Amino acid sequence: MQRWPALMVTILGGSLLATAPDARPAAMGPTTLAGATGAGVVVVTHGGVGSPPEWSSDCEDAARAGAAAPGGALDAACAAVVHLENICRFNAGTGAHVRLDGRTVQMDAAVMTADGEFAAVAALERVRNPVLVAREVLATPHRLLAGEGATRFAHRRGFADEVPLCDEALANYRRRLALLLEGRAGGGYDAFDWRAAWNYPTPPPEAAAVDPAGSVPPRVEPSDTVGAVVRAADGTFAAALSTGGTGLTLYGRVGDVPIYGCGLYAGPAGAVACTGHGEEIIRHAMARLVYERMAAGDSAREAVLAGCRVFGDEWSLGLIAVSRSDWAVAANRDMAWGQASPR
Ligand code: GLY
Repeated sequence: MQRWPALMVTILGGSLLATAPDARPAAMGPTTLAGATGAGVVVVTHGGVGSPPEWSSDCEDAARAGAAAPGGALDAACAAVVHLENICRFNAGTGAHVRLDGRTVQMDAAVMTADGEFAAVAALERVRNPVLVAREVLATPHRLLAGEGATRFAHRRGFADEVPLCDEALANYRRRLALLLEGRAGGGYDAFDWRAAWNYPTPPPEAAAVDPAGSVPPRVEPSDTVGAVVRAADGTFAAALSTGGTGLTLYGRVGDVPIYGCGLYAGPAGAVACTGHGEEIIRHAMARLVYERMAAGDSAREAVLAGCRVFGDEWSLGLIAVSRSDWAVAANRDMAWGQASPR
């Protein structure tokens, strides 16, 4: 979130007016950035809370890819998220987290449009672009497909059967595993007897699985869900999200992304997409909470700040939102993000 000078350049080069970021360190509360929108397309993306600001160029490319996509708000949101799913360092699609057994990749994704259409997939496996599978669910009578049924549906609808595994995700896994085995993993796992709850088909990993030297691998920052919110040229809104979930999970764990009103929300007043600790986002129905503020007349900036205030700093949270009058980004940790609003 420390990229105000770059944002300034972006804004001065476009048609937006920016408000200054909160003048306080991120550790003391959320950092926010916002811009007023004129008429026309606005795409805002995030690379997941925890992603370093240096990754923001990918998020800007994703926002531009969304803005350039033919079609409406949903097409733009999906194009932006697909762009990020195809880059290994993001925790979605090709870069999705490897789960605790060192081989399983389970992903969640969701889409929503301003006219209330919502669709999602949960614990989806063996697909490269889960957001497109979520979109495909829109064409069924259902709103959420999960597990093996979602995977079979994807393959039946023509998505290639492949496990999206990158070196970055494997390195990330080894690091998380090393910390877990040392009792330093956080995320509720230090006080949780995860071996007693182990539900993967293979036995729990031992220290030897970390790496030959048995040491914590070089720091590879794990990040969260990728997402996009869009206001299309016709004034309609959409949001899309895709995630490899959190780093420490039992088999079948599902976070906020595919849960209605939690990871994302869109309506006539705007669109919202979250990233962060899924269990806590679900507890607050965070996307709906932020959206309701915009529906009641708050700007996107006021609404994302309200979301951050109810969350607190203990758990990670990032938010992007676009309303009829502005767009906003907020996070209580570092977060790569991008924005595009072509004339
Ligand atoms: N925010 C993504 C997850 O918790 O799964």
